[in-house]
Amino acid sequence: MSDQAFVTLATNDLYGKGALVLGSSLRNHKTTRQQVVLVSPQVSNNMRAQLGRIFDEVILVDVLDSKDSAHLALIKRPELGVTFTKLHCWALTNYSKCIFMDADTLVLCNIDELFEREELSAAPDPGWPDCFNTGVFVYRPSIETYNELLQFSTEKGSFDGGDQGLLNSFFSNWATADISKHLPFIYNLSSVAVYSYLPAFKHYGADAKVVHFLGNVKPWNCSYNPKTRCVMRDSNDYSSAVHPEFLNMWWDTFTTSVSPLFTEQDIPKETSSDKQEEEKLSEAVSQLSFTPPAPVVSSEERRKKWEQGQADYMGVDSFQNIQKKLDAYLN
Ligand code: UDP
Ligand code: GLC
Ligand code: MN
Repeated sequence: MSDQAFVTLATNDLYGKGALVLGSSLRNHKTTRQQVVLVSPQVSNNMRAQLGRIFDEVILVDVLDSKDSAHLALIKRPELGVTFTKLHCWALTNYSKCIFMDADTLVLCNIDELFEREELSAAPDPGWPDCFNTGVFVYRPSIETYNELLQFSTEKGSFDGGDQGLLNSFFSNWATADISKHLPFIYNLSSVAVYSYLPAFKHYGADAKVVHFLGNVKPWNCSYNPKTRCVMRDSNDYSSAVHPEFLNMWWDTFTTSVSPLFTEQDIPKETSSDKQEEEKLSEAVSQLSFTPPAPVVSSEERRKKWEQGQADYMGVDSFQNIQKKLDAYLN
């Protein structure tokens, strides 16, 4: 199965964290396929190294940005112009068939059966079910398709400013042509569906195979209590809008499969000798890697930026500064 792969994308370290959790969830459920992550130059070397421990390939790509602020305003996600970068996935011609998955998805069981599907298979979008959601889709890498998509993007653009508008216009007969290309919703269960059709969620939710944390606040923005193994409800109330079990599952995968990778590499052995110290450390590491550091000058704007994945990686939010905070905590 070396010619088939799961593919995801991260253009910054925050989405890198999502990719680490997704990649771990695929591994934990014993996929027999390859795992590939596309990263942009903005992703730090440290994050790339961690990704390399979970993914078979970490491939550097340049950022493609629609810069279409007018359409992006309609989905209230000005930062999603860079999702055009997804289009690079069609250039992975070492593989004959792939499944693209957003970095904010989590696999709950083995989904290798999806490779039996053809391009372009995807699940309906919860907001407009005659469109497919581009958080999970089956496709065939091809330079011809890749070039056509790039040309299409410059000539026609995207009706939502992101990849989903573009891909729905490109594969425009998806809604009507072939029902086998409609993936069941349980392969891309978006968290918003939980409150938009609660009875269906109660009835079918237990069969979910892939959860998609669609929307502008992501699991890595929530606070998590490692002691109770529960996501803490906070003021923005996001955690109560999303089914808490799914959020807890994301964090559970994070703490059991991803966090140890950081612990091994980043923390000197001799400091983790006794049990209490170890607990303190793992908490600190989870802060180091997954919670924004407290700003030196408290600023709502800066927090907003961080949450949108626009951290000041070279400045106040640099690894060095986070490390300093960790050291202070340990002392
Ligand atoms: N993405 C990224 N950097 C960004 C925004 C998005 O790498 O700044 C990638 C990432 O794989 C992400 C996907 O593009 O999962 C789509 O964005 P997102 O999941 O935030 O969109 P949503 O599903 O919430 O509409
Ligand atoms: C959607 C999809 C996401 C896509 C975005 C922009 O909400 O979930 O994958 O990147 O729209 O088109
Ligand atoms: Mn997504």
